[in-house]
Amino acid sequence: MSDNQFSSRIGFILAAAGSAIGLGAIWKFPYIAGISGGGAFFFMFVIFTISLGLPLLLGEFIIGRKTGKDAIEAYSTIAPGTKWNLIGYLGNVTVFILLSFYSVIGGWILIYIFKGITGGLTDLSPQGYGELLGSVSGDPLLSIIAHLLFIVLNILVISKGVQSGIERASKIMMPALFVIFIIIIARSLSLENAYAGVEFLFKPDFTKITSQSILFALGQAFFTLSLGVSGMVTYSAYLPKNTNINSSAISIVSMNLFIIILSGLAIFPGVFSFGLKPDQGPALLFNVLPNVFSRIPFGTLFFIAFLVLFLFAALTSSFSMLEIIVNSITKGDNTKRNKWSWIIGLSIFAFGIPSALSFGALSDFTILGKTFFDLADFMVSNFLMPLGALLISIFLPLKMKKEELFSELSNPKPIKKWLFNTWYIIIKYIAPIAIIIVFLDSLGAFNFLKK
Ligand code: PFF
Repeated sequence: MSDNQFSSRIGFILAAAGSAIGLGAIWKFPYIAGISGGGAFFFMFVIFTISLGLPLLLGEFIIGRKTGKDAIEAYSTIAPGTKWNLIGYLGNVTVFILLSFYSVIGGWILIYIFKGITGGLTDLSPQGYGELLGSVSGDPLLSIIAHLLFIVLNILVISKGVQSGIERASKIMMPALFVIFIIIIARSLSLENAYAGVEFLFKPDFTKITSQSILFALGQAFFTLSLGVSGMVTYSAYLPKNTNINSSAISIVSMNLFIIILSGLAIFPGVFSFGLKPDQGPALLFNVLPNVFSRIPFGTLFFIAFLVLFLFAALTSSFSMLEIIVNSITKGDNTKRNKWSWIIGLSIFAFGIPSALSFGALSDFTILGKTFFDLADFMVSNFLMPLGALLISIFLPLKMKKEELFSELSNPKPIKKWLFNTWYIIIKYIAPIAIIIVFLDSLGAFNFLKK
């Protein structure tokens, strides 16, 4: 951050919501819901988001606002002389890997914007769009350059510490994103057979729940709220002490859920109407949306507008990833910012090259049956982020007194005792137990469910 505190609560909400709302809500949610059976996945995702995501988000806000420190030092400030700051290191490693594959998709958006502007996105058939993405993602040089470009955009912003300008832009871009989604949804819901898509997303078929879909729903809930990596600790560290974190957390979770529902409604009707497969994986959005736009007057223009807003949403999330690491190293010393943004950013780029090649040159190179890209995503979303969240939920009640937590949540507005107690029970018991059960279950410890 250039200025060391958020000037307003709305600035903080925009930054934290900007971190939350990104590829996770718009690109990843539909594709994971598509491979995880639709409605039942959505149902579990919402339950996890509200029952675990919201309380944990508050937990990270408490740590950040109380200490005013970075992701690593925040833990040493609360528990001096202990190893709890490993949570911060774990978060740093997690977002390092996360940004390395996130920027591959960010790169695809850049390529699509370029193609849109140069006339490469008109007059294609559903199959044509599939082939287009194949040729974009499978081209090694193109994907690496786009991946680099996306990372460099991040480096430029984080090195200059100009996030406050980005927050101002969010005030226009976020509502614009809502509006363009409404336009897409109006069209997609009027497609033939659109209802099959709505049903797929919202009608839970509980026989489709598997161990994997539960793990994915939990991972997705943490992923979309940027939890478990101390990113929300980092952002809330800039808060004035009397900011209402409770209402901020509720706004962020609601906005995020809202965007997720919008992206589901934008994509699934089209999937079924155009006879595409819901479980096609990371390509889903890129294969479906162009077909919807091609059926809207001035569709290419709207598509480009959508891509720009989509890029903005992805960037406000990726900025927060790089910020977590750069801030952990520079600890507020802005003279070091430039150097470290470049060092970390370029290292992330190099680490991400195999992920960028995972849809072409390295598509047959698999570890544990997964490409580099899939493995990186799987590790981050379904192991490292929930692990970070688990540790934070253990840390909070262990290292902070109950009264202290109560007074944090009651600042500046008193919180009802029963609400606090519910939060406390979730953080102390339900969250850790639930995360451990989901982990064990996915390892095959129980045999209740299909794998
Ligand atoms: N919440 C972001 C998204 O859904 O795209 C991803 C993310 C951003 C995760 C920042 C973690 C993080 F620190």
